[in-house]
Amino acid sequence: MLGLWLLGCWAVLGAAFAGQEGELSGAQESEFSDQDPARLTLSCTCGIPGCGIPAIPPKLSGLPRVIGGEDAVPGSWPWMVSLRIPGDIHSCAGVLISEEWVLTAAHCMLEPVEKVVVGLFNLNDNGKNVQVLTIAQVFVHPNASVIPVHDDIALLKLATPARFTDTVSAVCLVCDEADFPPGTLCVITGWGHRQHNTENSPTLQQAVLPLVSTPDCQKYWGANITDDMICAGGNGTGPCMNDSGGPLVCEKGGVWTQVGIVSWGSRECDASIPAVFTRITAHLPWVKQTLEEN
Ligand SMILES: *[C@@H]1O[C@H](CO)[C@@H](O)[C@H](O)[C@H]1NC(C)=O
Ligand SMILES: *[C@@H]1O[C@H](CO)[C@@H](O)[C@H](O)[C@H]1NC(C)=O
Ligand SMILES: *[C@@H]1O[C@H](CO)[C@@H](O)[C@H](O)[C@H]1NC(C)=O
Ligand SMILES: *[C@@H]1O[C@H](CO)[C@@H](O)[C@H](O)[C@H]1NC(C)=O
Repeated sequence: MLGLWLLGCWAVLGAAFAGQEGELSGAQESEFSDQDPARLTLSCTCGIPGCGIPAIPPKLSGLPRVIGGEDAVPGSWPWMVSLRIPGDIHSCAGVLISEEWVLTAAHCMLEPVEKVVVGLFNLNDNGKNVQVLTIAQVFVHPNASVIPVHDDIALLKLATPARFTDTVSAVCLVCDEADFPPGTLCVITGWGHRQHNTENSPTLQQAVLPLVSTPDCQKYWGANITDDMICAGGNGTGPCMNDSGGPLVCEKGGVWTQVGIVSWGSRECDASIPAVFTRITAHLPWVKQTLEEN
């Protein structure tokens, strides 16, 4: 049931949904939601019911940077997860896509991730909103590679589900990128380094950055940019070390949808060069299959 719900896709136009259904290879539970006005402007999005709507709304001011840093409103990115290696060290981020599943980058699994921490704003918080969860099973994409990077995606099944609260809930996954063309301003969030060669940020940072088309991104990175990647940034903001695995999210009609996973980019975190994200739409079939089979 959960599996089916998770892959529920909402669409406004039957035609749009039918096209998408083929791509998802198989019959899905579909919900033509005419009760929820927030969804009416979306042509297609996937996730659990109520996904992508933070109880505490985020506030974004202009074009702040993760490098350089702007604090998020505490609790306003409720799907953000900190992945901890032994010693309780934050190494990567992840994203709740349901109570039981965390989406992250495959390269984050090069380190022995032990725990998943949800409900965090301060990286070292251990207050009442914080839930420390263990991982039942790690699913790394079977074709994932680090050099060169491709299929940089992994799913973590939690041993005990996250308890959803005002500060803990799931993001939606994009299923139609037509909603978010190049130039759309989207957001990254993370506790990673605010500058090259520094330390993790103690508080959750957010930054606005534009989506960049594949041809424009290839001007910087050439043939390294493949169909399963999507680029964003190059305009003064971008991710840095330990932001990996975190989300690139875009908003439409009040619903936040994950479009990419922080994957790779400039070694020096040069924010004048677009950063590269794992493209969610390229991997929806694998996500769907993994959830259904497990
Ligand atoms: C992995 O790569 C093989 C060979 O290119 C392909 O047939 C298969 O579909 C890929 N697996 C996934 C889950 O994408
Ligand atoms: C870019 O492509 C080159 C040549 O194939 C490869 O050696 C390198 O590892 C790639 N870089 C990334 C980040 O994938
Ligand atoms: C880049 O940033 C400037 C100001 O910081 C802004 O005016 C411009 O719209 C941005 N460009 C894109 C493509 O987002
Ligand atoms: C996180 O940062 C530490 C250094 O602060 C580094 O050793 C580690 O490799 C980073 N992890 C990832 C996945 O980038």
